[in-house]
Amino acid sequence: NFDDKRLAEIIAVHVARKGGLLPILHDVVQEFGYVDDAMVPAIAEGLNLSRADVHGVVTFYHDFRRQPAGGLIVRLCVAEACKAMGADDLAAYAEKRLGLPMHSTSGDAAVTLEPVYCLGLCSLSPSAMVNGRVYGRLTQEKLDRLLAEVAK
Ligand code: FES
Repeated sequence: NFDDKRLAEIIAVHVARKGGLLPILHDVVQEFGYVDDAMVPAIAEGLNLSRADVHGVVTFYHDFRRQPAGGLIVRLCVAEACKAMGADDLAAYAEKRLGLPMHSTSGDAAVTLEPVYCLGLCSLSPSAMVNGRVYGRLTQEKLDRLLAEVAK
């Protein structure tokens, strides 16, 4: 249930430019929001790779979401500066609070929880991006408030 014509176009553009698998996957995520398992055969064929190769790359890089994202996308920064300010604890808290492990989307597709590696907001760490907006100096309380507000 994705536009396979659009997928074929993306593949064709990259093949013509002799682009590789990663740029294709980035464009696919840009276009569809995720890489559906059902897209793998067409991508493999276009690049003359095995399906296992493509699948291996998709699963290796967590950047490539494998299901549509939830309505609420919470991306917590877990890069160095934020880690130094307690990002790991905050991530563990978010996982518990949302009942979701990192890199996953809830069954009802309401929420996606993902790590991100620096939002350029290091001086306000720990930081996060919620539905495209960045927030700094997060605490558990602030995150709770944010989630309650955005989820409305
Ligand atoms: Fe988190 Fe830079 S390390 S914003």
